[in-house]
Amino acid sequence: MNAISQFLNERVSYHVHELQQPAPKPQQMTEILQAAMSTPDHGKLKPWHFLVVNQQNIEALISLLQTAWQTANASLEPQRAKRLASYLKQAPSIVLVSAELAEDSHISKQDQIFSAAAACQMILLSADALGFGSVWYSTDAVELPNVRHLLGLQDRHHPVGFLVIGSPITKRTKSRSNVAELSVEWQGAASVSPWGTNQSVKQEQQ
Ligand SMILES: Cc1cc2nc3c(=O)[nH]c(=O)nc-3n(C[C@H](O)[C@H](O)[C@H](O)COP(=O)(O)O)c2cc1C
Repeated sequence: MNAISQFLNERVSYHVHELQQPAPKPQQMTEILQAAMSTPDHGKLKPWHFLVVNQQNIEALISLLQTAWQTANASLEPQRAKRLASYLKQAPSIVLVSAELAEDSHISKQDQIFSAAAACQMILLSADALGFGSVWYSTDAVELPNVRHLLGLQDRHHPVGFLVIGSPITKRTKSRSNVAELSVEWQGAASVSPWGTNQSVKQEQQ
């Protein structure tokens, strides 16, 4: 296994409580986000929008979110709102990744959203490569209309990832599944074999 392959295989997420300062400096954040420019991009639409929130602004963000969660009479129960606020408070830095949808394009909305999701992964890997740790969280915290407006998001923005980036308190690895369990090889019409064997299995007709 070469060094890059090993790096990819050893990638792990660090949850917010496993992260601390320093967060990436502006120059490092630029380098991290620049890697997303190499994301697969159907139709060269660059359907990506990155909103960076530095730690000095996280307190203000939480306060706006909390107000919005309450006033929107939200689908967010108080217990969940409290949990979200407390994890965000610990975030060394946040990048909210949205798909910036070109409505009039012949490229499907789905492809544009997939591309933005792939950009998230590019960012996580790029952060890892610079020695940071990161995690991808869901975007439900920012999907209420009144929050979107405060964050400068327009209707064309479709949030896909709340990425938290900082320095791991303790570096670690994880044992991972064997890919063979999830892979098959096509052997002809309705016939596949487990990956790495030549024994084909006829698929049951639906
Ligand atoms: C689209 C997406 C949304 C996610 N949202 C959350 C989340 O809200 N909370 C959470 O604990 N993990 C969430 N995860 C999972 C973590 O990012 C992470 O992948 C998981 O904890 C497993 O860690 P690993 O990446 O080291 O295997 C999400 C992952 C994806 C791809």
